[in-house]
Amino acid sequence: MKQIDRLRSLGLFDARVPRYTSYPTAPIFSPEVGARHQTNALAVLNPDEPVSVYLHIPFCERLCWFCACRTQGTKTLSPVESYIGTLEQELALLKDILPAGLRMGRMHWGGGTPTILPPPLIHRLAQAVRAVIPPTEDHEFSVEIDPTMVDPDKIAALAQEGMNRASIGIQDFDPKVQQAIGRMQPFDVTRACVEDLRAAGVHSLNADLVYGLPHQGIARMDDTISKVLELEPDRLALFGYAHVPWVSKRQRLIDDEALPKEVERYELAKLAAQRFKDAGFDAIGIDHFARSGDTLARAARTGHLRRNFQGYTDDTCPTLIGLGASSISRLPLGYVQNAPATAAYIQRIESGTLAGSRGHVMTEEDLLRARVIEMLMCDFRLNRPALRQAFGDKSNIVDPLIAQVATRFRDYVELSENYLDIARAGRPLTRIIASWFDAHVPDGVKYSQAS
Ligand SMILES: C[S@@+](CC[C@H](N)C(=O)[O-])C[C@H]1O[C@@H](n2cnc3c(N)ncnc32)[C@H](O)[C@@H]1O
Ligand code: SF4
Repeated sequence: MKQIDRLRSLGLFDARVPRYTSYPTAPIFSPEVGARHQTNALAVLNPDEPVSVYLHIPFCERLCWFCACRTQGTKTLSPVESYIGTLEQELALLKDILPAGLRMGRMHWGGGTPTILPPPLIHRLAQAVRAVIPPTEDHEFSVEIDPTMVDPDKIAALAQEGMNRASIGIQDFDPKVQQAIGRMQPFDVTRACVEDLRAAGVHSLNADLVYGLPHQGIARMDDTISKVLELEPDRLALFGYAHVPWVSKRQRLIDDEALPKEVERYELAKLAAQRFKDAGFDAIGIDHFARSGDTLARAARTGHLRRNFQGYTDDTCPTLIGLGASSISRLPLGYVQNAPATAAYIQRIESGTLAGSRGHVMTEEDLLRARVIEMLMCDFRLNRPALRQAFGDKSNIVDPLIAQVATRFRDYVELSENYLDIARAGRPLTRIIASWFDAHVPDGVKYSQAS
């Protein structure tokens, strides 16, 4: 059987498995875990351990048809300005709850489009966060940037507030693809944005690309990659297009017929990975690439790579405080997500409580499974001695699962006394293999994928 058919028989093209930016994943969060859990957990954080902060801005001036992010379109600034007011109220509530002396090691602004904020709102928001959780000396501040929705004044304002990392959305540079996804973005505009970011002192620049978009083919992809490489990013994220029009209604504007078929998608991802490798990038996890001097590549080489809601990271802060609508906090007790809809989030904060509305309290077994899945997603290796050290005899509960995976995926994994390794040829199956350690993916689904 050809390689591609063997991968297909193991579910490569039809398995609907999570991206595992957390375990358990957000869809299984329960409404029984909410603001009360959030408040109690935040109150007892260890002030000597810096936290990371994620801030969600759920607004865009244009709504790209392909996008599955939680955001809403607006042509005026008034809802954005009022949302910043609500974030300030959320921070005021946090101030009364958090232990004195807590510091922020990292801050990330995501969306939506954080660069919809004009300079005065950028300053207001950054200062409001700092007033409640002051940054550490070596603090990192990263921002998601839409190159068509930013200008030198906004970049200068962000840099003044300490931005030293940035991530720009590119997706694809071909005009026909851009037209088909409702996102026109000239190369020159993107290049000017990159130059402004570098001049402002951004030392780590990521670019997001997507494969599997309408009308993409080998030649167009090759051309996009050449243009991306001209911009000299430090990191690249290469996401497979998730076409889920039943979840993201705007994707109904995308012509299904123009989408590349399964095997073409596979070839597009392969081409991109090869070009990035040839250009000197290290492959990081399942969908990232980084120059070997970048901290992400260093983390991958030294076994310190982590997975969080933004994807791969070298951030090792155990606690993440999520601010804004839909953002998820990772706290010592587990996960708590703020009300996903912006109106519901605003209503909760205005009523004077935190906005946590769903979540999950982690058991010892959840922590073990989460670590196994993170190891596979980050290192392609399940390290049994490390699990035994962290979880003792409890770690034995994954042994039968390791045995099942070793049998089912025998051509693609290597089992030794201490490790289960995913072989290079098996890496496209990583999420599927990880799902075998997920207690919330029913066995029936796992077995039907492979039968
Ligand atoms: C919040 S958005 C990007 C930030 C900014 N708003 C922009 O457009 O440049 C984060 C990234 O998610 C990825 N993304 C969004 N929808 C996707 C989908 N349906 N499938 C795969 N990736 C998607 C895109 O690469 C996008 O750049
Ligand atoms: S890709 Fe960015 S600008 Fe486009 S809709 Fe999504 S979040 Fe908004």
